[in-house]
Amino acid sequence: MNKDLDKTIELLKKYNQEHLLQFYSFLSEEEKSELINEILSIDFNLVQDTYNGVKCDDSKKEDNEFKPLKAKSLKLYTDAERVNLYNIGMDALTKGRVAVYLVAGGQGTRLGHKGPKGTFSIGLPSGKSLFQLQCERLIYLSKECKKYIPLYIMTSVDNHQETVSFFEEHNYFGYPKSMIMFFKQRTMPAVGEDGKILLSDKGRIVMSSNGNGGCFLALKESGALEDMKSKGVEWLFIYGIDNALVRVADPLFIGFTICSKQLAASKVVEKKYAEEKVGVLCYRNNKPAIVEYSEMQNIIASEVDSEGKLVYSNANILNHLLNIKFIEKIIEEPLPLHIAHKKIEHLDSHGRMVVPTEPNGYKFEYFLFDIFEKLSDMAALEVEREEEFAPVKNKEGEDSPETAKELILNLHKKWLTNARFNKTLLEKNQIEVSPLISYYGDNLSGKNINEI
Ligand code: UTP
Repeated sequence: MNKDLDKTIELLKKYNQEHLLQFYSFLSEEEKSELINEILSIDFNLVQDTYNGVKCDDSKKEDNEFKPLKAKSLKLYTDAERVNLYNIGMDALTKGRVAVYLVAGGQGTRLGHKGPKGTFSIGLPSGKSLFQLQCERLIYLSKECKKYIPLYIMTSVDNHQETVSFFEEHNYFGYPKSMIMFFKQRTMPAVGEDGKILLSDKGRIVMSSNGNGGCFLALKESGALEDMKSKGVEWLFIYGIDNALVRVADPLFIGFTICSKQLAASKVVEKKYAEEKVGVLCYRNNKPAIVEYSEMQNIIASEVDSEGKLVYSNANILNHLLNIKFIEKIIEEPLPLHIAHKKIEHLDSHGRMVVPTEPNGYKFEYFLFDIFEKLSDMAALEVEREEEFAPVKNKEGEDSPETAKELILNLHKKWLTNARFNKTLLEKNQIEVSPLISYYGDNLSGKNINEI
């Protein structure tokens, strides 16, 4: 213990962070050892360098050159072409070449739900949670391809236990437990405006998740990457928890990516209007990149083609298929760490709790979309927003549970109308189609309404 304490003091001196032991003498033996362990787990070099802006990639370069990246539109494929893509994707799933990676370590601050976002029910008639909707889509596919698809779930220190317990309580929604692996992403300490690491309590540091881009390091550290390789997985479908319409491991998308001969592909939807706050997939300085609206000059973001469609219209929906070879490369070459100015509750030097009303410190995060700049090229598939994108971000208004629910029920009404269900029945009732029955709206004709 004393050896560890000496080591800690030396480390803190080196990085000018001695204040972290300011309340050490007030702690119990257990708290002392927890604090020492927490301090020793920090990469002080990385914190210091990022704070000093050395590794930070947030400097918006004025001279960036943008070019559009042409996405293939799914609606322009003929039925025969779609069937072909589907069969190629199904073949890869059947042969066990595809795994699914859900990044679910976010805090969901905007939604304000107590607990992991995946446990949230958006108010569908079935009351199903986001986790259940997504797992049931996987079950459907697994039945179709007669093989369970490995599912990896990244959580965070804050929501890990609750996530695992939720799955246990719901019997993994019928998915085999052995096919699901849960693991936590890493944390990073938060710093004040002076670069000093903040304490949340006398014996605790303010730690937060290292951003969704931390998912690659987590793959390696948890052993998930090795597990995938031992299973013969070649492609990883990565997606976020907060899209209630996500087509998890969509065979069409897998087929599309394989045929593209690229190491990565993204599903995108058409941007609604130039100022919409979504990242856009395009080329930045000749490399694929997802670019925020704020990074692009208005004149470029508003450019339209001869048909009046935005030239930069590929809205990112966090729906990617990556080749394992590419993932191994990303892990070897760390991503830039971004720094975010935030309101951070912490203990001041007098041991008083500070509850800020304005940003008072910095948090550090990796962004998943930074990976694309490591590619020379990639493919993009444009899909219909109403069919595949129902974001659940905010408590109310735009991109809220209410809008997501409406999108799902409208889509299901369309499916059932196409399958010639009784119009009056559909008008009078809100009918939700179980993901266990249909994936694309197929397989519905002739079914009993109760079964659906
Ligand atoms: P968001 O960027 O929407 O963040 O996450 P969030 O934390 O869920 O929500 P807000 O901003 O606090 O309201 C997009 C996806 O990235 C995951 C989220 O779980 C979601 O699937 N994510 C985000 C992580 O896995 N880890 C993180 O550190 C951050």
